[in-house]
Amino acid sequence: MKSGLTLGIETSCDETAAAVIKEGREILSNVVLSQVDIHRKYGGVVPEVASRHHIEAVFPVIHEAFQQAGTDLKDMEVIAVTYGPGLVGSLLVGVAAAKAMAYAAGKPLVGVNHIEGHIYANFLTGKEIRPPLVCLTVSGGHTDLLVIPRLGEYEILGRTRDDAAGEAFDKVARTLGLPYPGGPQIERLAQGGDPGAVEFPRGLLDGETYDFSFSGLKTAALNYLNEAKQKGKEVPLADFAASFQWAIIDVLTQKLLAAAEEYRVEQVILSGGVAANKTFREHVQAQAAARGMELLYPPVHLCTDNAAMIGSAGYFRYLAGQRSDYSLNAVANLRLGE
Ligand code: KG4
Ligand code: ZN
Repeated sequence: MKSGLTLGIETSCDETAAAVIKEGREILSNVVLSQVDIHRKYGGVVPEVASRHHIEAVFPVIHEAFQQAGTDLKDMEVIAVTYGPGLVGSLLVGVAAAKAMAYAAGKPLVGVNHIEGHIYANFLTGKEIRPPLVCLTVSGGHTDLLVIPRLGEYEILGRTRDDAAGEAFDKVARTLGLPYPGGPQIERLAQGGDPGAVEFPRGLLDGETYDFSFSGLKTAALNYLNEAKQKGKEVPLADFAASFQWAIIDVLTQKLLAAAEEYRVEQVILSGGVAANKTFREHVQAQAAARGMELLYPPVHLCTDNAAMIGSAGYFRYLAGQRSDYSLNAVANLRLGE
């Protein structure tokens, strides 16, 4: 059926999500059921709890996506589902649901890489995307810097050697007693703070590598808080948060733009949950503009995990002839280009 409609399904972490997308670019529905309130009391995502909730939520969420779009399974041209990277038990729920629906309705199935999905969130904004471009995907699980020479092709320039940028936000926020996810909390706390107040280390900024390292920064931030506590000193929270946030933004921006200059691209793309950070967006925007480059990033609700981005990436994979069979399985450590 040539309806141009894709059902996207995403269950890689703690969001159960389904969306109906037209021709890879237009969102007809985008339903995200977040489990953050459930995981908040544990300070992070508990894999067992996440998969159990996905099992309960996945079909109601898909049903809601069909309803909001005024469509049904029979109208879909293709079914796209995240099969990695992510929590294996969570991924399996989406993959099993997608396979069952594809089989029952005789629809083509396309497995989508979650990171590629984050990149395709930029296809849902109406802006024109012109490769070659350089893209930085920063989330709770990933910090990947890549070149996209042509659509669908990825060359990894660097990735984190330890913590992901979002993970660093989450861990420091947890130490401050702030709820999960920590990124938006630190961003709020940083408002009005002085980003130069505390000098935090910047990992791997010697110009030798496009890899990242945030564990030194995380340790420095935790030590700063512990020392202050031991000495009974009050931490200026806004200054602390602004300085910590700035240390991450500074490294991310410098590496992204160094890569953009080396590869002489006209467009740079941000994607993933950390790209929701306003200070980060504004800083990259200014730095890119100063070099005559255009910056693209998705609206906040499409930066964090959702199924619209999976529907978009899946549709373009489908157009390029990719199909998955019923042996499609969850791959927890799936990498781009594999
Ligand atoms: O892409 P995402 O929803 O899930 C993963 O694939 O990991 O990203 C979630 C991550 C979390 O670590 C969260 O703290 C971070 O993105 N995040 C932010 C902001 N909003 C979400 N980090 C910094 N500033 C934000 N405004
Ligand atoms: Zn994600």
